[in-house]
Amino acid sequence: MSSRHRTPVESRRYVPAPGEASDVELMPAGDVTDGVVRVGGTIRRPHQPQSLAVAAFLDWLEDAGFDAAPRFLGRDPEGRDVLTFLPGRCAGPVPEAWAQSEELLVSVAQLLRRLHTASAGFVPAAHPFPPRPGRQKAADAAGLVCHLDVTPQNVVVRDGRAAGLVDFDLAGPTTAFKDSFNTAMHWVPLRDPADAWAGWEGADPFRRLRIFADAYGWDEDERRRLPVFGVEAAAVSYERMQHNARALGGGWARMWDDGVGGMIRRRGDWLAANAGAIVAALTAEGRP
Ligand SMILES: Nc1ncnc2c1ncn2[C@@H]1O[C@H](COP(=O)(O)OP(=O)(O)OP(=O)(O)O)[C@@H](O)[C@H]1O
Ligand SMILES: [Mg+2]
Repeated sequence: MSSRHRTPVESRRYVPAPGEASDVELMPAGDVTDGVVRVGGTIRRPHQPQSLAVAAFLDWLEDAGFDAAPRFLGRDPEGRDVLTFLPGRCAGPVPEAWAQSEELLVSVAQLLRRLHTASAGFVPAAHPFPPRPGRQKAADAAGLVCHLDVTPQNVVVRDGRAAGLVDFDLAGPTTAFKDSFNTAMHWVPLRDPADAWAGWEGADPFRRLRIFADAYGWDEDERRRLPVFGVEAAAVSYERMQHNARALGGGWARMWDDGVGGMIRRRGDWLAANAGAIVAALTAEGRP
């Protein structure tokens, strides 16, 4: 749909399709948002403070020709956000063996690059993204709007390749480097080997990081500053998780009680201890 014919996001209403109510499926739960369901060809999510900012961004992406994000169809009679359902599969909370595929890793990096290219020029106007504690430095506020939560659970995979991005709850202005670092952190993944997911103990983080870097296209400077950037990001992330656990409770408090703070600290320590090896892997001539 071209933007000229769209109802503004705040007044867009979704009219249920006949018979769709008989085709309802509960989606796998994430850490924070309860009650995501598929109804026919749509996803219903609770309406949230950032929903309209996200909706305007999804409209922009559609107009930019980015076909790998859901469309915001409006709010249903119960007030829920309605988005298009993207067919495919997402990894579970402990990503399955198939999620280790290097072809998939390459495609995630390429899809993220496509997102960043499509996002360029988008300026949130009528519906700014709500500020997030500990998240937006002043320098980021005017930055590129990115996804910022490209986890294995939020990537839809078809035919072994990343075909969709869902769950734009954390989207907002930042830098492409921050979003791409964050995505690599989730997909390599970058964490202390003591925190490896079951079945991922053999994954080589240096090789996988290099594959991601080449597929996304980090430049020499980005490759060299990655470890320091990652150590700082871990410190910020620790503060933010702690703040959210105390201020918001719910899933944030559950994650904190499950020890996510220690995991983030160990990630920072691991990045610091392996800084030289990481830069070497990212800058050595040739493929890994
Ligand atoms: N538009 C969509 N198309 C296909 N599948 C989707 C879509 N939206 C969500 N899903 C599926 O539902 C799952 C949960 O939805 P989503 O990621 O939006 O919420 P969540 O992870 O529960 O939220 P949070 O990360 O805030 O806790 C996703 O991991 C994915 O498997
Ligand atoms: Mg999710």
